[in-house]
Amino acid sequence: MTRQLFVTTALPYANAPFHLGHIMEYIQADIWVRHQRMMGNVVHFVGADDAHGAPIMIAAEKAGITPQQFVAQIAAGRKQYMDGFHISFDNWHSTDGPENHELSQDIYRKLKAAGFIASKTIEQFYDPVKNMFLADRYIKGECPKCHAKDQYGDSCEVCSAVYAPTELISPYSVLTGATPVMKSSEHFFFKLSDPKCVEFLRGWAINDGRLQSEVANKAKEWLEGEDGLGDWDISRDAPYFGIEIPDEPGKYFYVWLDAPVGYLASLKNYFGKTGRDFDAFMADPATEQIHFIGKDITYFHTLFWPAMLKFSGYKTPDRVYAHGFVTVSGEKMSKSRGTGISPLRYLEIGMNPEWLRYYLAAKLNAKVEDIDFSAEDFTARVNADLIGKYVNIASRAAGFITKRFNGRVSTDWATDTDPFLAGLRGVATEIQALYEGREYGKALRATMDQADIINAYVDANKPWLLAKDPANDAALQEVCSRLLEAFRILTIYLKPVLPRVATQVEALLNIAPLTWSDTHHPLPDGHTVNPYQHLLTRVDPTIFDALFDAPVPETAPAAAPAAGHTDTSATTDAGRIEPIDEEISITDFAKVDLRIAKIVHCEAVEGSKKLLRLTLDAGEGRTRNVFSGIQSAYKPEQLIGKLTVMVANLAPRTMKFGVSEGMVLAASAQDEKARPGIYILEPWPGATPGMRVG
Ligand code: 2FM
Ligand code: ZN
Repeated sequence: MTRQLFVTTALPYANAPFHLGHIMEYIQADIWVRHQRMMGNVVHFVGADDAHGAPIMIAAEKAGITPQQFVAQIAAGRKQYMDGFHISFDNWHSTDGPENHELSQDIYRKLKAAGFIASKTIEQFYDPVKNMFLADRYIKGECPKCHAKDQYGDSCEVCSAVYAPTELISPYSVLTGATPVMKSSEHFFFKLSDPKCVEFLRGWAINDGRLQSEVANKAKEWLEGEDGLGDWDISRDAPYFGIEIPDEPGKYFYVWLDAPVGYLASLKNYFGKTGRDFDAFMADPATEQIHFIGKDITYFHTLFWPAMLKFSGYKTPDRVYAHGFVTVSGEKMSKSRGTGISPLRYLEIGMNPEWLRYYLAAKLNAKVEDIDFSAEDFTARVNADLIGKYVNIASRAAGFITKRFNGRVSTDWATDTDPFLAGLRGVATEIQALYEGREYGKALRATMDQADIINAYVDANKPWLLAKDPANDAALQEVCSRLLEAFRILTIYLKPVLPRVATQVEALLNIAPLTWSDTHHPLPDGHTVNPYQHLLTRVDPTIFDALFDAPVPETAPAAAPAAGHTDTSATTDAGRIEPIDEEISITDFAKVDLRIAKIVHCEAVEGSKKLLRLTLDAGEGRTRNVFSGIQSAYKPEQLIGKLTVMVANLAPRTMKFGVSEGMVLAASAQDEKARPGIYILEPWPGATPGMRVG
């Protein structure tokens, strides 16, 4: 029976570009979705930006734009990742869209009507300068236990003590430096402690077998632990970038209340665009709702989210599939160790997205385990499996079919009882079940076992020897046709992971898009295939030099010359320009990450005759402080609002006046005295912050 599936991935905060962890989750979900589509099931696969919350509001304010503009800038950068890694979302929306406002408010009203909302006055730290309540992360002070300075409001990074922000000695607001004051405010709570809620969650999260065992065990601890479930504070006071709580002026939903509702909102937005009935789809008992998420947000997805839906009368999720994190060479990704991987850089330096899809898939299983990325392992798996075992089959067979038989295959042997095909086709059901169960590593191993058998057939039948004697033509055509048929079936098995290669193979074999049902339909006898075109290249391990971020020293080096000021030490015989430096490779050049940056603020540096302090927005959702030795050439007000080019991956430098987090590019002549002047670079109109220069 055809299934109807509503599939989501976690909604990323709209304050940063994607990192490898996001891409891994999208690839995991995309493989599952593509498998389902190949099964003939109907899938609606949607995502959205998680737009709300204080961090985004504050970042937008720093950048001098509205939160909506800020979120829109981040959202504009999403497509290049999705297209680049072949992620087949049907829709991408925002939790700030009108559908989410309506749905979140509707859910709240229904929860309230059902008696699941309570209100209580609580006391909280308040910044009297910024006029806003401060979440723990915006309060710092001296640790009450070990007296370390500048510790966050909830725990000490030095002695690991956990405490309330009110226990900090000499607390201050991270936003303004002001001493916070205690202030009371009415907050709204979702009554998770209601026995009806606890009873529902015991069934949904623990007993119904819908969650991975590790996740269900965690939910059991949370539900049945000493403290049980407390009521959940779902409100925040203005100023807050979020959705207003109905009938409660100045109160907004906490971002985690409306974020998962964004799943429904994106689907509703998609259905609106495609003329489908959202309410009917969600009311249909046949609809399966499936969320792919990271292990760090299971609490929200296995307690809050199903309870919110249940007691507001909405459909509850059918599955929540949690995955682990990505580590690099066994460690958490870290810029300072030079193990950070930027997915965009991966694409920009020409690494094939399907290598990554294959590599991650080969390591993924249904458990909540971390996945380790290792350059050696990546190279070995891609080269040995994809090139050595899979692509080679086609490259060895297709040439003979084209050159010797005008592209025609002979498949009169390819009956249901053919023993060679029986073995190969026989694993299809097992591989389908492995994809369904997210055991991609096992699915690929089973596929590569078949590739081994097919390669053994090549070695046993040696088409290159058969080709030497025209008397063997019939045999040569059958052997090569058999290989192409086997390659066609392997391509079906790999298609959820390698969608682009599969499309190329479909073009090569001159056939319609492959689905699982094609496993049993061989190429017709006499069918003509197209000449072989190159499908995939090997991984050259030297490419990893360009992939990894340059290590950033933990301790910044000693004060350097004014950032942005060209080194003028060299001379030339001609005395006209400095000599050109020694040649570098494109890989060397690729190490320098040049970005368009907006100068959102600029000011003189007290005590310095050379430096200006620039506040730069390179589209990252934060600003950077950069010192530049251009005071002799520019007044601050000339620069504010201008775009320029910065070196974005330069190690931070501690200077006398603070840390410089990058360098702006400026031109100056070798002989400053003879030809004074410093000229900051400015892009042509149309460039926007964050664009790569190169
Ligand atoms: O942890 C995060 O990145 C959240 N933005 C995930 C939200 S998932 C869903 F609830 F929207
Ligand atoms: Zn401490």
